[in-house]
Amino acid sequence: MKMVIKAALCATVLATVSAPVMAEEYPFAEQIEGRQGYFQMLKFNIGVLGAMAKGQRDYDADIAQTLANNLKNASLMNNQLMWPKGSDMDAEGLSGKTKAKAAIWQEGSEIGQKNKEFAAAAETMAANAGQGLDALRKAIGPLGKSCKGCHEEYRAK
Ligand code: HEC
Repeated sequence: MKMVIKAALCATVLATVSAPVMAEEYPFAEQIEGRQGYFQMLKFNIGVLGAMAKGQRDYDADIAQTLANNLKNASLMNNQLMWPKGSDMDAEGLSGKTKAKAAIWQEGSEIGQKNKEFAAAAETMAANAGQGLDALRKAIGPLGKSCKGCHEEYRAK
């Protein structure tokens, strides 16, 4: 009985706390936050590799390999559910919430191809990052370009 009362109390507290947030909620909030979080995670991993490549951070083969593996594994995730049609920056209520261009969902979209290019560059990075600083340096350019290649077409400035 005690447990039930506690649970009910918790639910009430939660409802009160989350009420103001709910009022501001916009459609596809969770999907948009999910994909943006995914990209922040990519940025962290490539950021450390980039710092090593530039000599701003000591090269460490184990760390480099770990981060490169993370990028490779991330590139293989199926994130389809984070990209519902209608969750673009021009959709009602989404201005300022997302930078995803509507072109992603339009006829002739090459977003899948862009993601394949990222996956290929991440795979090359994973094969090289632990093999020495020179090998990492050779792989970082194409990997960074694969991010940029998609952003130029499908992410607003
Ligand atoms: C296949 C396309 C594609 C690839 C590949 C890609 N991005 Fe993005 N990225 C996007 C899109 C589209 C957005 C905008 C998402 C949104 O605002 O809903 C974005 C947003 C971001 C953001 C901002 C996230 C936020 O908090 O709003 C960062 C940082 C980012 N990308 C980093 C990267 C890095 C680093 C790579 C490569 C390792 C990469 N992206 C590869 C399409 C891509």
